[in-house]
Amino acid sequence: MEKPRYYFPEERDTANLEFSHLGFDYVACPYRFEAVFEHGVWRARGLLEDKVMHLPEGSQCLHYGQQLFEGMKVHRGPDGKIYAFRPRDNAGRLNSGARHLRGPEIPEALFLRGLEEVVQGNHPYVPPHGSGASLYARPFYLGVGDNVGVKPASTYVFRIFVSPVGPYYKGGFGPDQGKGFMVSKYDRAAPQGSGHIKAGGNYAASFHPGAEAKAAGFIDALYLDPSEHRYIEEVGAANFLAFKGEALLTPESPSILRSITRISLLEIASEIFNWPTESRKIALDELDEISAAACCGTAAVITWISHIVDDDRRWEFPFDHRWQQLYDVLVGIQTATREDPFGWRYEIQI
Ligand SMILES: Cc1ncc(COP(=O)(O)O)c(C=O)c1O
Repeated sequence: MEKPRYYFPEERDTANLEFSHLGFDYVACPYRFEAVFEHGVWRARGLLEDKVMHLPEGSQCLHYGQQLFEGMKVHRGPDGKIYAFRPRDNAGRLNSGARHLRGPEIPEALFLRGLEEVVQGNHPYVPPHGSGASLYARPFYLGVGDNVGVKPASTYVFRIFVSPVGPYYKGGFGPDQGKGFMVSKYDRAAPQGSGHIKAGGNYAASFHPGAEAKAAGFIDALYLDPSEHRYIEEVGAANFLAFKGEALLTPESPSILRSITRISLLEIASEIFNWPTESRKIALDELDEISAAACCGTAAVITWISHIVDDDRRWEFPFDHRWQQLYDVLVGIQTATREDPFGWRYEIQI
């Protein structure tokens, strides 16, 4: 049987890009994967060349934010093999969002097939091992159709595009890369709203607070809980972490995103380093007793927080070597430079 045109396994080379100089920006790759849900069934359309989408003007995703997205990274190991990190967890989180937005779930097998095909099709864009860059995969899900009423769609598009990326926060990770965050007066999500799912509207709501923080000289906003404005939630695109004495702390709240990086770091902390971990409410005032702060996410990996400012209060946090220990294990597993005792790597055959 003739191979589909987009498989080019004989090509082992990489695209002509300066991978080590990439920021977190969109780079158009040749192919994107698409599937459509219509008449009650998902149908894969396979890889498409057109990065421009053609949608009905009445689509729910355009008017009512019936939209979800995911973000995950794909790395090339020292042996040239290609690995995604915990993609089943992204599929599960997308489906919890689909349930909340009253759309159909995506079969995990379809999600994984889409990821594999889009990475296979664009494999020269998977950055070389050691470049510090990765291939970011952006699955997303749209309610579409000829509609005007406020109700869920009956047709959905699921697409995954990929883009090679460098660090999310300029400068990336390291003891000379402390980032400052400003406590926001705004909320990114409602107390019992959609903050726990990766719905696009949550992110539009963070543009104004984020822009205010940046204008004031900070890297981003830090949000407090939307009911009392007393407890730390998370930052624009990453969960919050802190060390208090021996323990690694992370906030628990119904309105933050369940970060896959966070659950991985908690597991590394307890299973590999035997450090105590606590997921619980963390009051802003408790920063007085915290010795180190950071945030974590697929894009942000681990980002050291050097200072947090709330009006006239300011907390400073030194670089803690335990961030480096966590970073080395996490990135070592992701990039296949160390063993993966948890089974998190997902190999994509080219
Ligand atoms: C609001 C928010 N919190 C946390 C995270 C981190 O989640 P993950 O580690 O699954 O990427 C992200 C990024 O995906 C995010 O957008």
